[in-house]
Amino acid sequence: MKPPPTRELRTDVLVVGAGVAGMTAALGASRTGRVVLATKTALGDGSTRYAQGGVAAAVDAADVDAHVADTLAAGAGLSSPAAVRALCAAGPGAVRVLAERGVDFDRGRTGEWALGLEAAHTTSRVLHAGGDRTGAAISRALAGAVRRSDVSVHEDAFLLGLLTEHGRVVGAEFTEGAGAGHLLRVRAEAVVLATGGAGQLYSRTTNPAVATADGLAAAFRAGALVADLEFFQFHPTVAAVAEPFLVSEAVRGEGAVLLDAAGHRFMPAVHPRAELAPRDVVARAIATAMSEHGGEPVRLDATGVAAALGRPFAERFPGIARMCARAGLDPGTDPVPVTPAAHYWMGGVRTDAAGRTSLPGLWAAGEVACTGVHGANRLASNSLLEALVVGGHVVADIARGPAAARFADEEAVEEVAEEVVEVPGAALPLAAHLSRRELQSAVWEHAGLVRDEAGLAVATKLLTPQEEPVEIRPGDLDVPRANREDANLVLAGQLLVAAATRRTESLGAHSRGDHPRTPHRPTRRSFRRTA
Ligand code: SIN
Repeated sequence: MKPPPTRELRTDVLVVGAGVAGMTAALGASRTGRVVLATKTALGDGSTRYAQGGVAAAVDAADVDAHVADTLAAGAGLSSPAAVRALCAAGPGAVRVLAERGVDFDRGRTGEWALGLEAAHTTSRVLHAGGDRTGAAISRALAGAVRRSDVSVHEDAFLLGLLTEHGRVVGAEFTEGAGAGHLLRVRAEAVVLATGGAGQLYSRTTNPAVATADGLAAAFRAGALVADLEFFQFHPTVAAVAEPFLVSEAVRGEGAVLLDAAGHRFMPAVHPRAELAPRDVVARAIATAMSEHGGEPVRLDATGVAAALGRPFAERFPGIARMCARAGLDPGTDPVPVTPAAHYWMGGVRTDAAGRTSLPGLWAAGEVACTGVHGANRLASNSLLEALVVGGHVVADIARGPAAARFADEEAVEEVAEEVVEVPGAALPLAAHLSRRELQSAVWEHAGLVRDEAGLAVATKLLTPQEEPVEIRPGDLDVPRANREDANLVLAGQLLVAAATRRTESLGAHSRGDHPRTPHRPTRRSFRRTA
């Protein structure tokens, strides 16, 4: 094969991904050195801009302890208390930086930031902007700041893999440009993965099309530890209409209730906090209510919200009101049909609290990372906060120099026992042997809200190629990106199913129908590729 046209760059810091974590890291690093930011679509085009509810932060310093306690309770015993404290303590500073960058958080009548309530929070602490368009406001502000900065932005750059030398990550390769484009090889002192999650693993998902596990797959292929992969969060309330959309938990925070297909409110009998129980509890209760009524979606009844707020529903939730209107629904008068859908991967590339991965030279922040904060179930609106805070910590850690570029095992695993599973590199998929649709329905059916041994065995079989598919070579620029994404998703799906199979107990978002017992002291499970 003729070598592909190649463009070579050198930089101090390479950031891969352009959501809140990537843009925060790029802006921070650009203050002290050269930064290249590469993203597979456009700046700000990741999951961040779809976030509705907001950013959880203890803006009153007296609330930090309660924010820590709520995060740990939602995490079901698998979160790292030190990482959670670091996150919650940094929250107020992180949102002030966002405000300075131009995010106009909504305010109450007396001018103070308006704080929303969401599930499993014991108090109102969720800052929002544009009502329910918080992610879009943050994305816009950060993308504007990146464009005005010295960061060298490469849009339409698809990650092919990480470059390693003697066990250290020294850069990454991309295809860049429309059509076949060219190969972009970036060598860097530090590489930051901020590529987001993998919601495209599931047929029902709130995630945009770009969420295809590219960063996790590249890191795993390069030998990085990945962890907590059995914990995938399902958002309880996604509109069950022709074009599904998220209906923020903040709507339940303002008083909306859930009704089964017979019009009966079922959550008070399930959990003392009813509709504001942790997300995994509400999602499973909805699935049960649906199966008791022949699969009929439940209804989110928000008809009392306007009276409780003293203003129209559409003023507080303009984005949701507009999407409802497009589907022919008026949430002020009609309960909205909803079902759970895949939303957020708690698992990811294992990092310590500073975002350092197990590979020198590689850091990770945002949904691609598993910092130990979310444990088995993420607390609502902690994801934007984590991306902001860890995006900043990564920059500070890189600035400390090469001595810092080592995974702090002892710090990362201090309170939670960890088992490492070795996966032979020869067994990794280099191409997808099934279509995106087949993959998504296999993972939804057999590794969804409730799993069991028989279903997971079916998923394992479906995700294992019976004969070796034709390998995709990194330098082959004619391969469509969708095929590379599919190969990444198959690898991510195999790891998720392997992790779910090994955890023969129920914990947070990982619910085993055949193993309902919850462990007293859960063990974290990580996977690592061997040569
Ligand atoms: C929502 O608005 O319900 C989503 C918030 C989140 O995922 O944290």
